[in-house]
This record gives sequence, structure tokens and C-alpha cells, in this order.
Amino acid sequence: MKEQIEALRSTALEEVAKTSDLRALEDARVKYLGRKGKITEILRGLSQVSPEERPVLGQAANKVRDAISDAIDARKEVLDAEAEQQKAASEAVDLTLPGRRPRKGHMHVINQVTDDILEIFFELGFQVAAGPDVETEYYNFESLNIPADHPARDSHDTFFVKPGVVLRTHTSPVQMRVMEKTQPPVAVVVPGRVYRVDYDASHSPMFNQVEGLLVDEGVTFADLKGTLMMFVHRFFGKDTQVRFRPSFFPFTEPSAEVDISCTVCQGKGCRVCKNSGWLEILGCGMVNPKVYEYAGYDTEKYTGYAFGLGVDRIAMLRHAISSIGHLYENDMRFVEQF
Ligand code: PHE
Repeated sequence: MKEQIEALRSTALEEVAKTSDLRALEDARVKYLGRKGKITEILRGLSQVSPEERPVLGQAANKVRDAISDAIDARKEVLDAEAEQQKAASEAVDLTLPGRRPRKGHMHVINQVTDDILEIFFELGFQVAAGPDVETEYYNFESLNIPADHPARDSHDTFFVKPGVVLRTHTSPVQMRVMEKTQPPVAVVVPGRVYRVDYDASHSPMFNQVEGLLVDEGVTFADLKGTLMMFVHRFFGKDTQVRFRPSFFPFTEPSAEVDISCTVCQGKGCRVCKNSGWLEILGCGMVNPKVYEYAGYDTEKYTGYAFGLGVDRIAMLRHAISSIGHLYENDMRFVEQF
């Protein structure tokens, strides 16, 4: 029986040493030291041995039990430390990894170009003005001398909100809104969205204009021409050629359209300028006295000029953008380029 007890010690110690996790260790403890464990069994069996042998075997069994118990405690410490280490490794944070950069937004290309246009006019003393996108027919058409039977008022060109109310088709109604409230001298620029029933590679149902209006005593067409030429040279470079072409707008008289030499081919002729060498960028003219009558201005005392720039067209020219649609699809691959 003595040998049996000793053999139990070595198998038990070996088994404990081999346990790979806390669970296996607990199984080993139950197997040897538990209530139905092998050591317990032996200690219980001592009642069957002779009284002489009993103390010797009892001592030996107790020693083996203590040895196994110590081994289990020691093994537990090792396994605990291992488990701790594993947990630390799996939850570790690498502080040397680069952080995630927050995505930063920026101004849309249309707003950038609008600001650059306005800046030039601010330097000349113009102030900014604004008006509503949803506009009455009175401000959008009638007060600008666009008669009721004018083709532009047709529903094919204009978005009607309800009878008498439209999405403004140009920024010119803000001219009237400003003049109603202010006596000359007036010098304003008006950035804004405008709407027309039109949709192809160079037309969007919503696009952007910058309107200009200057009214004072003694303003002439030469002032208009000088101001716009200065603007073109500042914005597109001083080698850019400028051409004033006679045109017609009901609210200006005389009227002109302004072309600049093609920024792509420098006037030699290319696809962008349709081989003409010229690009149209704005409409302008001397304010029609009829408009002053609606505004309540003294038509004998005051003269002035107005112009309307196409911001989208200018942005497309500056950045060689092939389709106006790109400006409004908000595809990040496009938007992020500017
Ligand atoms: N409102 C005109 C347009 O949208 C442009 C313009 C503005 C022309 C001011 C003359 C004076 O086409």
C-alpha cells in the first residue's frame, strides 16, 4: 500500500504539471483531492489496515496530499499569470499606430469661384445684396420690363410655383428689390441660384449667377466697359481679350454680351469655343429707364449699368470641367479635387 501511495504522488504531480489551463487543473484537483478523489479514498481505506500500519500509511498519505495540494497551488499561479498575459496581449493597444484623420470638408468649387468674383467687385466698392429664390412674377419679369407675352415667361422655360410665383430665372429681380429700398448711388453685387427648365451637358435646371448693378449721376457705357474689362483681366489674366457684342435684354438699353478669348486655345479655335475662339461669360447693359420708373428713380437724374455673370460657365472654364452636371452630382471624387 505504501508503494501505491508513492506511485499516486508521481502520477498526480505529473498530471498537474501537464495541465494547460485552469479548468484542467481544477479537474485534476477533484480527481485526487476531491470528496471522491483518490487520496480521500486511500485515507478512508485506512480503517481497514492494521493499527500498527495505520499511522505510517496515514502520514505518508497526508504528505502526498499536501504535496499534490502545493503542486496545484503552484501550477495555478503559473496558469493565472499566463492567462493574464494572454488577455493583456489580446486587448493591447498599439499607441504608435497613426490615428484616423477626421475628414475635413471645404468650400464647393462654385462657392470658391463666386467668392473670387465678388472679391474683385468688393475692391471697387460694391456691396453684396441678396433676394429670395422663390420670386414673384412681378420682380422676376414685370418690373424688369419683360412683358407678359415674352417667351421667357412661358412655362417651358420657367418653373412656376403657383400663379404669380416662380423660381427666379435670373438674379436681376434683386436689382429691383435693392432699388426700391435705396436711393442712388447704388453699387451692389448679388450672388445667387437661379432656375430654368433646361437640362443638357452645358445647362442645369439650377445654376448660379452674380448680378451687378451700379446707379449714380453721370454713369456711362464707358464705365460699364472699363469695369468689366478690369474684372476679366483680374480674373482670367491680363492677356485675355474682351469683346462686347450688341445684344438685347428688356431691362437694359443698350445691351451687350461679353465674350472673352478662349481660355483653352487662346483664340485659335478648339472644341470648347466651338472653333470660334470666343467664350460668352455675361450679359450686360445700361439700365433701361423703364426699370427706373418701376423703382421710383428720377430717370432724368440717374443712369447706371447692370450685368449678370454665369458662375457655372466661369468655373467650368477655369477648371476645364466638361459637363455642368459634375458641379451638382456631389460625387466626392469630383468635389474633392478643388
Ligand atoms: N439677367 C440676364 C440673364 O440672366 C443677364 C443680365 C443681367 C443682362 C443684367 C443684363 C443686365 O441672362
